[in-house]
Amino acid sequence: MAKIDFGGVRENVVTREEFPLKKARSVLKGEVIAVIGYGVQGPAQAMNLRDNGFNVIVGQREPSSSWNKAVDDGWKFGKDLFDVEEAAKRGTIICYLLSDAGQIAVWPSVKKHLNRGKALYFSHGFGITFSKETKIIPPKDVDVVLVAPKGAGRSVRKLFLEGKGINSSFAVYQDATGKASDRVKAMGVGIGSGYLFETTFKKEVYSDLTGERGVLMGAIAGIMEAQYELFRKHGHSPSEAFNETVEEATQSLIPLISQNGMDWMYANCSTTAQRGALDWKGQFKKAARPVFEKLYKSVANGSEARRVIKKNSQRNYKEQLTKELTRMKNSEMWRTGAKVRELRPEKSR
Ligand SMILES: NC(=O)c1ccc[n+]([C@@H]2O[C@H](COP(=O)([O-])OP(=O)(O)OC[C@H]3O[C@@H](n4cnc5c(N)ncnc54)[C@H](OP(=O)(O)O)[C@@H]3O)[C@@H](O)[C@H]2O)c1
Repeated sequence: MAKIDFGGVRENVVTREEFPLKKARSVLKGEVIAVIGYGVQGPAQAMNLRDNGFNVIVGQREPSSSWNKAVDDGWKFGKDLFDVEEAAKRGTIICYLLSDAGQIAVWPSVKKHLNRGKALYFSHGFGITFSKETKIIPPKDVDVVLVAPKGAGRSVRKLFLEGKGINSSFAVYQDATGKASDRVKAMGVGIGSGYLFETTFKKEVYSDLTGERGVLMGAIAGIMEAQYELFRKHGHSPSEAFNETVEEATQSLIPLISQNGMDWMYANCSTTAQRGALDWKGQFKKAARPVFEKLYKSVANGSEARRVIKKNSQRNYKEQLTKELTRMKNSEMWRTGAKVRELRPEKSR
């Protein structure tokens, strides 16, 4: 593993130069990779592995739209597409890519096929870290590993097809065979990761749950709503409020941050904007810090996991979710967003 300096801190990472696809193929020679679940990550990882020449089968319950999707993607029933239990039986590396609630429900029928020497692979540390709540406790004589792509399943596939790759974290929780480290790195390369950085199951789930509730999804939506509503309260038009809150951020500034960093983006804005942003940034940080502290604490003490498992296991979860998202879609702000996207000159929407 290479030690790479990130802002003065040295980290263990695996690059494709150091662990090329050829090596991954040799490590996983003879393995049957069973991708259990064909939701979001399942299709991306299964197809990338298949395209990279690995021996992959899919396990998916039926009837289900996910089963139909697998058939549409070329998986054949009885050849490389099975029900969940049959795929778990045939697989030597079992990629447990059901939703976190699904993993809890299906665990007994997967566990019984975890024979000595197999590997149990996750893309999230949730099931293992919160085992008190999930009851997911693997046998001692199997490897337990994780590769967590830092992006949506769609991007995992899209970037792979473009010849790029999404960065992933990786971890070994249990090394029963002495091969867990090579197996997990080979899987990371096989699914088309950019570079792989090392973590633990616990750190992965704490950072993932905090990140998605925080800056990546929860905080960004909350802060955008707050600013939009403020503008509207003071008589600004929907167009003005939306452009000044969302459109300019997503279309212009965030891509610049991605390409060249925050300082570069600041340096290329007006002096009025620079001065104001630099002077107000601290106030936002101060206001947000206690919320982040509260969030991290609720993740680390397991209360967030308990809350989510309870909610996501309710029978009507999908209906409730649809209701909430429809409310968001129908809010003035996001209806304005839809119109703004429609009015973009080129078809970038
Ligand atoms: N979504 C992402 O982009 C992303 C990114 C990084 C990591 N991850 C991790 O990857 C893993 C998979 O996530 P995902 O988002 O791909 O999951 P998802 O789309 O929610 O997965 C749904 C899959 O689970 C199956 N499923 C759900 N409940 C089930 C049950 N009770 N019995 C049998 N099958 C059931 C679904 O089948 P049906 O369609 O038949 O319901 C479908 O195949 C998770 O650990 C997640 O944290 C996801």
